[in-house]
Amino acid sequence: MSESTEGQVRRFPPPPDLAAQANVGPEIYEEASRDRLAFWARQAERLTWAQPWDEVLDWSNPPFAKWFVGGRLNVAYNCVDRHVEAGHGAQVAYHWEGEPGDTRTLTYGQLKDEVCKAANALLELGVQAGDRVAIYMPMIPETVVAMLACARIGAVHMVVFGGFSPDALASRITDADAQVVITADGGYRRGAPSALKPNVDEALTRTEGVRSVVVVRRTEQDVEMTEGRDVWWHDLVDRQSTAHTPEMFDAEHPLYIMYTSGTTAKPKGILHTSGGYLTQVAFSHWAVFDLKADTDVFWTAADVGWVTGHSYIVYGPLANRATSVIYEGTPETPHRGRWFEIIEKYGVTILYTAPTVIRTFMKWGEDIPAKFDLSSLRILGSVGEPINPEAWLWYYKHIGGERCPIVDTWWQTETGAHMITPLPGVTTLKPGSASRPLPGISAKVVDDEGNELPPGSTGLLVLTEPWPSMLRTIWGDDDRYVDTYWSRFGKTTYFAGDGAKIDEDGDFWLLGRVDDVMNVSGHRISTTEVESSLVAHPAVAEAAVVGASDPTTGQGIVAFCILRGNVEDSGEDLVQQLRQHVAKDIGPIARPRQILVVQELPKTRSGKIMRRLLRDVAENRELGDVTTLTDSSVMELISAKLPSSQ
Ligand code: WTA
Repeated sequence: MSESTEGQVRRFPPPPDLAAQANVGPEIYEEASRDRLAFWARQAERLTWAQPWDEVLDWSNPPFAKWFVGGRLNVAYNCVDRHVEAGHGAQVAYHWEGEPGDTRTLTYGQLKDEVCKAANALLELGVQAGDRVAIYMPMIPETVVAMLACARIGAVHMVVFGGFSPDALASRITDADAQVVITADGGYRRGAPSALKPNVDEALTRTEGVRSVVVVRRTEQDVEMTEGRDVWWHDLVDRQSTAHTPEMFDAEHPLYIMYTSGTTAKPKGILHTSGGYLTQVAFSHWAVFDLKADTDVFWTAADVGWVTGHSYIVYGPLANRATSVIYEGTPETPHRGRWFEIIEKYGVTILYTAPTVIRTFMKWGEDIPAKFDLSSLRILGSVGEPINPEAWLWYYKHIGGERCPIVDTWWQTETGAHMITPLPGVTTLKPGSASRPLPGISAKVVDDEGNELPPGSTGLLVLTEPWPSMLRTIWGDDDRYVDTYWSRFGKTTYFAGDGAKIDEDGDFWLLGRVDDVMNVSGHRISTTEVESSLVAHPAVAEAAVVGASDPTTGQGIVAFCILRGNVEDSGEDLVQQLRQHVAKDIGPIARPRQILVVQELPKTRSGKIMRRLLRDVAENRELGDVTTLTDSSVMELISAKLPSSQ
């Protein structure tokens, strides 16, 4: 957002008919600020507790929070059984659409049976409460069933995105010390089966401790089964009983670990727990999407391997008894109208996706959505990166028919649920602004010293009060938890790592990461992780990686590499080899958009690489201040390397 765009910001008040029937009205902000903890306690009452809590929040040892202390519940019971008990067993929980066009419908009653069977299967494998179970799956119903089965027996799931490499999977399995892996032969992507099981086999050569691998048959690709370790899901799960009595767990019982990139090469295992997490995902899903359980068809078009999938494909929607859509594949398969076809087919009323997808649709052209009946839509959502006003307006017009409010939701893996977002029946929207903190959430923009900045300023985003769905720690590393999030401004202020501006109305505009984390198509990738991968290649001596702005993916990965002395620069061949190496090492999403082979990197006198300058080069901008460089001619040499078309 530039100053000039903000000057001409258009405003979109809530549609009156939507506002009149909205789940929440403007008074909710006042209600929450009157007594924040009482407000969250009321939200927790959306859930069914086996034992009520004694205390809403224990913040006596910051930054280690305990929410709903003493309360007991079962997360899976709350997501499934209680709806069946209330007579909604025949309601569709998921309309699942496979990429090849095969479909499955799962009602709440069927989901309950499947989850119970899978829970019994895990018990048979010896999984106990607190054990970690890795899930490496395509987007199929069994993925959700596996997650809920873990939750049901108190095992901690650790879903690894199916696009990640064997190495990435192995390091996560090792870090979480998982003993069971649930996977599939493969899934469908871009019109072809894409194998998963071989990656698991490879990963398991690099980590110890996994004793069982459960394999769902999806693509019917040939897979190797290791005797005594691997078992087919249909052999193990199908013969189990549908009866399983859920055990009640402490509100702070761990629910899942989700790895995310930080500023170092080692991903962080973000730990979420039960009662507070479910409370906030349920509340936010209900309030932000104005969810009407009886009539809405909700679609989070994201992968369940990311936090967005955890909170808004699985836990939030199920806690609220929503009917959701799950789609296995990519938007262009078999044609570029696939998503719109799905919206039309299921009558999707709420669509939640990422700006990078919207920009891709923009590139493909508005005549594609125009061919489909999208009139069922009533609310649109955006997540993952700042949405530029141009993409916002396109989304509003060509998908939302100028009828649907767009909720631009700012949050993180660490926050677990929405934090800064409009409310569709309340907020006057400004394209590009995520609006205000959710009721019950306290956010501020501060300067480098942590002083709160007045409206009209730009600074760093912080959260000043704990919230129910906050991460509880980094798995196995409390010190890193404190250092990363709670040390810059003291132990009670959460440093989000994002820059933000607060405007004269008090609305927040998110400006992207202020650390060395890139955001590529809404996925967080650490510059250090890609650098480590590059220097692990025998040809590379040193590497510096930056995120350069990209019209489609938000940021693109640009790497600058110095080759080892004995390596000849074979030009394009080598570059392709290196790109491929990173894709294989970390995953295709980390494949650099561009790699430039250079003689030297710009460094400060203390030896720190000046990424700021590399970003200037990568974005084809005039160079910023070079006075702290040891040798300013380095930059001329690097700039000369750029293709002239840049
Ligand atoms: C960015 C995804 C601007 C931000 C849920 C954050 C956003 C990081 C928005 C978290 C938004 C997410 N506007 N930026 N609406 N949503 N971000 O952990 O930089 O994958 O810190 O969680 O994405 O990414 P994560």
